[in-house]
Amino acid sequence: MKLIGNKICIRDLRFSDLDDYYEYGKDPSVGPFAGWKPFPSKDIASRVLHGQIMSKETYAIAIKETDMLIGSISLYHTALRKYNRAMSLGFSLSSAYWNQGIMTEAVRLMIQYAFEHTDCLVLEVGHHRDNYRCKRVAEKCGFNYDGTLCSYKKLYDGSIVDACFYSMTKEEYERMKKYE
Ligand SMILES: CC(C)(COP(=O)(O)OP(=O)(O)OC[C@H]1O[C@@H](n2cnc3c(N)ncnc32)[C@H](O)[C@@H]1OP(=O)(O)O)[C@@H](O)C(=O)NCCC(=O)NCCS
Repeated sequence: MKLIGNKICIRDLRFSDLDDYYEYGKDPSVGPFAGWKPFPSKDIASRVLHGQIMSKETYAIAIKETDMLIGSISLYHTALRKYNRAMSLGFSLSSAYWNQGIMTEAVRLMIQYAFEHTDCLVLEVGHHRDNYRCKRVAEKCGFNYDGTLCSYKKLYDGSIVDACFYSMTKEEYERMKKYE
């Protein structure tokens, strides 16, 4: 899979991404906001990367010009919604690249991919209640707020988080596209 945007491309993850994958994944300002523990070692990063390559649900976000991995984005069947044609998006980006519109671009590319190249009819985004950056990305991409689940999850550090959920249906996507 390869999706090309203005600044980035979204492509399959590779074992050769390991150095860049470890570099952004060990940063304590990234993983915890998405619910995962920063990688304590390159060996752990390698195991997680291997699992993600095998799962075929997670893709690399890479700089278009250099192909260097700077983040990842996943498209997967959501555990929250029981409808088998609902899918969820999860993502994270190296903090060196925040606030440049990169994840908004990545999410828009994945919305188009999900609705135009898979059988997805409902797309979901969720974030921890205090993740204002992710909230903005969901809003900018046109998702509708569905609600907040209290005590959604216990994280690796024992903290319990509330989570806010958003959705977009294929009809909404098609309507939005007409007015772009
Ligand atoms: C969330 C994340 C993916 C956003 O990526 P990004 O490329 O910086 O996102 P964008 O630049 O497209 O948009 C960020 C928006 O958040 C806003 N923002 C940044 N810090 C903020 C804050 N503290 N409070 C409110 N809004 C904030 C930015 O101003 C921008 O909005 P704007 O375009 O209206 O100005 C990135 O911060 C990240 O990887 N965080 C750690 C992991 C994570 O949270 N993953 C998501 C799990 S749901």
